This record gives sequence, C-alpha cells and structure tokens, in this order.
Amino acid sequence: MTDTSFIYYNKGRLHIEGVEVEDLARQIGTPFYCYSGGAIVDAYRKLHEAVNHPRVKIFYAVKANSNVAVIRTLHGQGAGMDIVSAGEMARCLKAGVPARGIVFSGVGKTRDEIALALKEGIHQFNAESLPELEALSQVAGELGMTAPVALRINPDVDSGTHAKISTGKKENKFGIAWDDVEAAYARMARTPHLEAVGLSMHIGSQMTDTAPFAHAFARMEEMVKRLRAAGNKVPRVSLGGGLGIPYRGEAIPLAAFGRLVHETVQRLACEVELEPGRYLVGEAGVLISKVLYVKRGEAKNFLVIDAAMNDLIRPTLYEAYHPVGRVVENTMPDEAIYDVVGPVCETGDYLALERTLPLCQADDLVAIFCAGAYGASMASCYNSRALIPEILVEGRNFALIRPRLTIEQQLAWETMPDWL
Ligand code: LLP
Repeated sequence: MTDTSFIYYNKGRLHIEGVEVEDLARQIGTPFYCYSGGAIVDAYRKLHEAVNHPRVKIFYAVKANSNVAVIRTLHGQGAGMDIVSAGEMARCLKAGVPARGIVFSGVGKTRDEIALALKEGIHQFNAESLPELEALSQVAGELGMTAPVALRINPDVDSGTHAKISTGKKENKFGIAWDDVEAAYARMARTPHLEAVGLSMHIGSQMTDTAPFAHAFARMEEMVKRLRAAGNKVPRVSLGGGLGIPYRGEAIPLAAFGRLVHETVQRLACEVELEPGRYLVGEAGVLISKVLYVKRGEAKNFLVIDAAMNDLIRPTLYEAYHPVGRVVENTMPDEAIYDVVGPVCETGDYLALERTLPLCQADDLVAIFCAGAYGASMASCYNSRALIPEILVEGRNFALIRPRLTIEQQLAWETMPDWL
C-alpha cells in the first residue's frame, strides 16, 4: 500500500496532503483522479538531486500525464519537456513552457508537426529513421531553418520489463539499428538544414533494476566513441526515461541510477538529457472510485466499481499491478478476496485481480494507487463513458484541473450526415 508523506491514512481515512479523500468524493462525485502536487515536486527534486550535474537536464515525458497543470508544476521546478505530438506541444505551450525547453521524440512525426515545432523554435528533435531525417531536412529547408537533431539509436538491450513497454530491442520499431548508426550519423551531419546535435535512446519503461540502464549506457558510450573516432561531433546524448515506481513496493535504485548517469556524463564529456515520465508522476496519483455492487459469483467475488478499463487501462493492457485500498479503512476484521472490475462490457475490464480486502459493500469508496502515470493520459470514452475529472491538491487546497467530460459534450462532437 502506498503510504507516503503526501498520500497517507490518518485515523483510518485516506488523505492526499491536507485533503480528506472522502470529502473530495462527496464534492466531486466518483470516479476521479487526484494528484498530490507536493508528491510530484518531491519526486522531481529527488531525481534532480540524484542526477544533479551542471551538464544533466531533465525533460519530463509529457505522455505520462499530460494535464497542463501537471506540466506547469514540473516546469516550475525547472524541468524541460519531452513530447511526441503537436498536441503535447500545444499543452506545453499552454502551460507556459517555451519551445526551447522541449524535445520532440517519436517514431512518426508528420511534416506539419515538424514545421510547427521548427517555427516555435524547438530545442531538439529525436529522429528515428533515415526517411524522417529527409523529412526534417526538407521541411527545415522550406522554412529556411536548421533542425537540431539527435539520432535515436536502437542499442538492442533487453530492459527486462513487460514486452509492450520494451523499446530497445532490435525487433522493436524504435531507433536506428545498431549497425546502421555510424552511416546514418555521418549522413545526418552532411544533410543540409540539419544540425547533428548527438544521439538519443530509450530502452523501456518501469525498470526497477539498474542492470539494463548500465548495459544501455555502455552501448551509448561505445557508439559515441566510435562516432567521435570517425571525426564526428557528438555534443549531446539523451539517455531516455524508464525509471520505475514501487507498484509492488519494489526498492527503486535511485542513487545507483544517479551514479550511472554521472559516470556517463564524465566518460562522455558532453551534455546529458533524461526523459523520465512515470517516476515523476506515477506515485503522486490516485484513482478514486465507488463500489456499485458486491457480486458473489460462483468462482469469485467481484467488486463492481464505477471506474473501468477506459479510465485506467494499465491492468488489462500490461497485466499491471496497482495497489488497491479502501478510502475509509474498515474496522471490521473480516476480509474477502475480490476481483475489482468496472462496468465496461469486456472480460478484460478489471482494475485488480484476486485482492484480499476488508469486506466491502455498495457505496464504499476505493482507491487505486500509483495511478498518476499513464492513467488519465491513456483514458478513453469507450462504452460512451465520460472522461473522468482530474484534481490537483496542494496542502489543504484542491483544484479541478479537468472537469468530467460528459456524454453531452461527446455528442456535441458528432454530426449527422444530411442523407440520414
Ligand atoms: N522517452 C521516450 C522516447 C519514451 O517513449 C518514453 C515512454 C519515455 C521517455 C518515458 O518513459 P518512462 O520514464 O515513463 O518510463 N503506457 C505504458 C508506458 C509506455 C511508455 C512509453 N514511452 C505504461 O502504462 O506502463
């Protein structure tokens, strides 16, 4: 169970900083996401301290939680941003992040997105293929500009994490194949309208062991040395994101990660960029939901709650584990084993499987912890459900940072063709 100084139980009642979650649920209605601003800032400071070096810069991977208030919170701490779409860029700009503090990653940038980012004055593109380099050069040429580009390499390293969030193996779609990097870099360096600023990589997500990082950083060093030996300048490298959070109470090797980053900066004598997402926001968020029905099946007990896979898709998509607890702890000693499921008409619609919880009944509030990353940002309106609100807490204050997006609002997007 998550129990930090920001998200904790006091007298059996769940609090997010100075706010009692039961009160919040009464005012907002369930389900909703709630984030502790203090926990986000704390995570940033811890990471910043661990990697602190004048040549290391942190770019928050906006995809983890793209609410503008979350972006502004991290920008306020000095983070740059790592984006993968024009939509995410618009969010950063709205949050007050200048384009010179933004890195544009992603395997499929459109020409329109490239043009938009160039006109805004983006800090760097992380490019993933030769055709993308062509597109970058052409678009920059048309605008009479130069695109600063770091070439994403595929180091063929196993991150040891879930297959769907592994990105650094040769069978993954990401980055330039190891054996092609030298030729691609040389080509990038002589392509008009491109400025070769270095290399980038990202091998996977939710890593709780330093071995894959160490392996990947060593591969990066090897490639930088080879490129330099061939006369190329490599002034910057991005080492990606990937540091995990303790969904199951794992120890997160933050200090060891920091040491690895420091060693890499020293050995490479260049600027180093990091793109953490989950680590900065994951533990700071809780999904609050209400029990609709307690259903006793033949083989299992089900807690049917009002949040579902469309609100938090991680359990069914990645077999992800999120701690679940009651918002108001039950004083009764009895427990039961429940599958915590939503109202969506899919067998895969579950938030947690086979959890031992104190006995629950209809209208009880439950909390799904460690839901700040890849929760709201991956939500959908499947089954024509409303997108749920997001709340940001600071001390005793809270703010609705996204309201519930109702079915009326969804229907307002849809129009009837005139032949119907
Ligand atoms: N940089 C790049 C290029 C990425 O693709 C990602 C994540 C990150 C940085 C940030 O990674 P992080 O520090 O958050 O691990 N939806 C999945 C995770 C997908 C990660 C995609 N890329 C999940 O819920 O587990």
